Amino acid sequence: MANKSPLINVMERAARKAGRGLLRDFGEVEQLQVSTKGPGDFVSNADHKAERLLYEELLRVRPDFGFLMEESGEKPGKEDAYRWIVDPLDGTTNFLHGIPHFCISIGVEARSVLGGKLTREIVAGIVYDPVHDQTYWAEKGMGAFLNDRRIRVSGRVDLATSVIASGLPTLERADHDEHIAQTRAFMDRVAGLRRFGSAALDLAWVAAGRYDGFWEVALSPWDIAAGIILVREAGGTVTELNGGTEMMASGSILASNSRMHTQLQDILRKCSAND
Ligand code: 2AM
Ligand code: CA
Repeated sequence: MANKSPLINVMERAARKAGRGLLRDFGEVEQLQVSTKGPGDFVSNADHKAERLLYEELLRVRPDFGFLMEESGEKPGKEDAYRWIVDPLDGTTNFLHGIPHFCISIGVEARSVLGGKLTREIVAGIVYDPVHDQTYWAEKGMGAFLNDRRIRVSGRVDLATSVIASGLPTLERADHDEHIAQTRAFMDRVAGLRRFGSAALDLAWVAAGRYDGFWEVALSPWDIAAGIILVREAGGTVTELNGGTEMMASGSILASNSRMHTQLQDILRKCSAND
């Protein structure tokens, strides 16, 4: 049985509360699909409402923490040691189209000055899937969990039996040709490629051993903050596509079950436009 810390408990309480609101709104969205304009404004409102609720709830329980939120941006805390990194609705396009695959993501970033240099580290994270009422959570040094059960990354080493997920770039996002080259390279080598549209859940699923790896670029810190610690605490490895460790700054991320990390990185490197 998992022992949740007070920090994880407050994150879970806030996420579940906001998740109930999202689920209610999701029910409405499904009805609105038939209109020509679609439910765009309604969804934007649902997203903002969830963020407001998370902000109020988290501020109440940890008044000194700062915030970085998808919709409202940065709000410095009274002390600079910790900040919440919040995505109130990850998988917005799914939500908008009535596809039941979306989540709330909350990460906790600790900031400290070491030898005159500012360092930031994600020390706790939660990804809450309201459709399935599943809470993925992790805290530094404590392991990763799905509800009350410990989760671990997969043990696969063989690409030919692996399932790898990604995010396809759309409209103006990222380099389409490079992504096509990457997809093409994986198609020849893996058992399955998936693109489900929520980076936070993709990372949680790597942590849970469902996907053996996941890569995407052009993401924002709130898409990946919680997912990074989930994967690491489940025994996985997270880097940028080029092996660097500034995922939060660059938005480039490769997460894997560790054992396959080098193989995945080599394939991606060969497709890189700069190679
Ligand atoms: P979102 O649902 O909160 O927008 C899909 O590939 C993933 O990329 C989702 O996690 C999505 O988060 C994220 N993402 C980041 N920037 C995006 C953008 N400009 N457009 C669509 N998805 C984006
Ligand atoms: Ca997001």
